[in-house]
Amino acid sequence: MNLLAIETSCDDTCAAVLHDGPDGVALLSNQISSQMIHAEFEGVVPELASREHMRLLGPVVRRALAEAGIALGELNALAVTNGPGLIGSLLVGLSFGKALAYALELPVVGINHIEGHLASAALDLGEALVVPPFVGLVASGGHTEIVRVTAWGRWDLLGATRDDAAGEAFDKVGKLLRLGFPGGPALSRAAAKGRTDAYDFPRARLGIERGGLDLSFSGLKTAVKLFLDRAGWPQEPRDPGEREHFVADVAASFQEAVVDVLTAKLLKAAEVSDTRCLLIAGGVAANAALRARLQGAARERGLTLWIPDTRFCGDNAAMIGMAGLHHLRRGERSRYDLAAIPNLDDWEGFYESGV
Ligand code: KG4
Ligand code: ZN
Repeated sequence: MNLLAIETSCDDTCAAVLHDGPDGVALLSNQISSQMIHAEFEGVVPELASREHMRLLGPVVRRALAEAGIALGELNALAVTNGPGLIGSLLVGLSFGKALAYALELPVVGINHIEGHLASAALDLGEALVVPPFVGLVASGGHTEIVRVTAWGRWDLLGATRDDAAGEAFDKVGKLLRLGFPGGPALSRAAAKGRTDAYDFPRARLGIERGGLDLSFSGLKTAVKLFLDRAGWPQEPRDPGEREHFVADVAASFQEAVVDVLTAKLLKAAEVSDTRCLLIAGGVAANAALRARLQGAARERGLTLWIPDTRFCGDNAAMIGMAGLHHLRRGERSRYDLAAIPNLDDWEGFYESGV
């Protein structure tokens, strides 16, 4: 089966083509067009994001099909993100995907973006290796959720951020440190040269000793902001060398606090749900310090840890395609009147049998 997958839930316009055959899944193309228009605003502007998706999606889909060497007539199904995400952005990809599926008389499956991130490790590391049940952490610019996946497409939410997402905290602190947008990758580069124990920023534990798995990052972000205000930043320090050290130390100390909390919560989730396999995904899973810490912790405890290659951590359509295959193989499809759902809380299946 040849599957076209589309992802437009935030600010990346993505299309991928997957082939599901007797030898497993082959990723034939994975096109990602990251919108640069938001950089000058240092954050994603929803209205601009949907307009950019409208402009970019047609060419991105055409490029994906050309790279895969698959004609429209050779497609067998479509998978498209229908939530959660920015409503305008979701609508562009979903309308495009549904219209194309309808015109080609093909099944379409709506995919939960979080489910897509969770599927990325199986796509990258192999379906034989990455098998539920596992405890997964999806940490990105819009989400920080800990789930227990019982089967592909079925999961229980164990904990979530009560305020900012982990990636959002990286972006906001990156902005405070004048590292540009998105702050996550730039901040982690700066942190590599800093001391993780230079400053003691707070860790929101939220009852972890009693099994509390919710997270919070807004207090940490505010603590960094207050610290910077007190230090006289951005006027001080004046010496360029000192400035660079200062930024590196703040970045490393902030990152350490985030890594501490994410690691502790994921390990706790494994403990309370009696699960020995862990998985991380989402943009923040590209963070080298988080990857290294979790690898060490998993090794120490004899737990299995799956992390996709960094190119599958951020938003992409390949992961949506992988999640789509899980549904299609079970004979599930969505209706052509499938709606876009911006909030995770409102999301539910929307599948029916009969492919
Ligand atoms: O999954 P993703 O591409 O989009 C969303 O679904 O939000 O995640 C993007 C987020 C941004 O907040 C970005 O700053 C963060 O992931 N990110 C990182 C790193 N690379 C991307 N955060 C920390 N360290 C990184 N290396
Ligand atoms: Zn994402």
